[in-house]
Amino acid sequence: MPGTILVGTQWGDEGKGKATDLLADKMDIVVRAQGGNNAGHTVMVAGRTFKMNLVPSGILYPHITTVIGDGVVVDPGVLLAELAALEAQGVSTAKLKLSANAHLIMPWHKERDKLAERYLGRNRIGTTGRGIGPAYSDKVARLGIRVQDLLDPKILLQKVEVVLRERNPLLAKVYNRLPFDAEAVVEEYMTYAEALRPRIADSSLFLWKALREGKQVLFEGAQATMLDVDHGTYPFVTSSSPVVGGVLAGTGVGPREIERVIGIAKAYTTRVGSGPLPTELHGPEAEALRTAGAELGTMTGRQRRCGWLDTVVLRYAARVNGLTDLFVTKLDVLSSFDRIPVATAYRIDGEVTEDWPLTQTEVHHAEPVHEWFEGWREDITGVTSYADLPRAARSYVEAIEKLSGVPVTAVFVGPGREQTLLRETPRAGGH
Ligand code: IMP
Repeated sequence: MPGTILVGTQWGDEGKGKATDLLADKMDIVVRAQGGNNAGHTVMVAGRTFKMNLVPSGILYPHITTVIGDGVVVDPGVLLAELAALEAQGVSTAKLKLSANAHLIMPWHKERDKLAERYLGRNRIGTTGRGIGPAYSDKVARLGIRVQDLLDPKILLQKVEVVLRERNPLLAKVYNRLPFDAEAVVEEYMTYAEALRPRIADSSLFLWKALREGKQVLFEGAQATMLDVDHGTYPFVTSSSPVVGGVLAGTGVGPREIERVIGIAKAYTTRVGSGPLPTELHGPEAEALRTAGAELGTMTGRQRRCGWLDTVVLRYAARVNGLTDLFVTKLDVLSSFDRIPVATAYRIDGEVTEDWPLTQTEVHHAEPVHEWFEGWREDITGVTSYADLPRAARSYVEAIEKLSGVPVTAVFVGPGREQTLLRETPRAGGH
């Protein structure tokens, strides 16, 4: 069972790119299963910073084959620009494979994403504006255009015409926009087709064969559990399923191939966009966390909302993903606080619960119940082994492990590769 899944346990931006970096040496293949260029991975390798939105961050390692799986929505122009930027930085992208089943983000998806947000006004989701939601809704409505359609210009034109027969009147009559011209769109997309053709593959079959040969495959999650369309803070979620079930569906791989499910958690909590965040802070404490953690979105440059760690969320993520390990990132950001609160439960209309609430109304009414931990007040960014962390920092990590019920097997104390502290804990008993 050489499969490892990496999932975000909070609202995204937990540092999945860094976790990939840690695991990359042992991997042969890194695959993305869902989402699109709404994700943002920043990875520092040998002092150089690489930013990726759509391409799996495993591409930075010459021995790794990267795969964009069936469940991803692909903006082909963005993909080609990202590949060109990587090539310009000296990274070979030759081995990237693109699933023939992946859906394409079309120009009307991007337009509708922005228009829908504008029309929602105060109720907007705060999307990344990349057309992700409309691309997934067209996929489910069976009006999607897939990567494989690029292989047949006649079919592509037919499909685009059908979609535009349905979509153009909506754009013109409801949103007062100009209609799209099918032939112009096909002409544009055929230029992408030429460039992408050699990469188009049956990625599920490729992964199946590789797993049979004992190759190590890392399934690199994008977004996170609390942004999952089924299990997250709906409707303030993304339009795909970043939990483990969605990762399997998005790659065409069965559960018996998976040995390890690693959850990534920031040592505190952040979120971009709208929606509930039970441990959210406002004022100086929020500002202190935001500044110490440089909490600006990789993708949109938006300021992230900040709060203390929420272990109700971690227990929930452990449950819906079946986590075997937890990686805790950005522990160093907490070094400037005297005392560090952690939410262990919620108080909702006078009742205390340790479980994620049943309804959205309850989530909105949830007030965190905190347990306070001693701060360590010293710079830990130079620490190179877990045992050398200050006692209070180790107690904090061990409390996360106890409260989440998942062994913490790695702790990150800075952006560099060497700032990773591995912990040997017995693998059994995670859940
Ligand atoms: P969409 O995915 O662009 O439709 O945005 C839906 C919600 O998910 C918004 O609140 C976004 O800010 C959030 N979101 C999408 N991708 C990411 C990510 O990679 N990190 C953090 N938040 C994200």
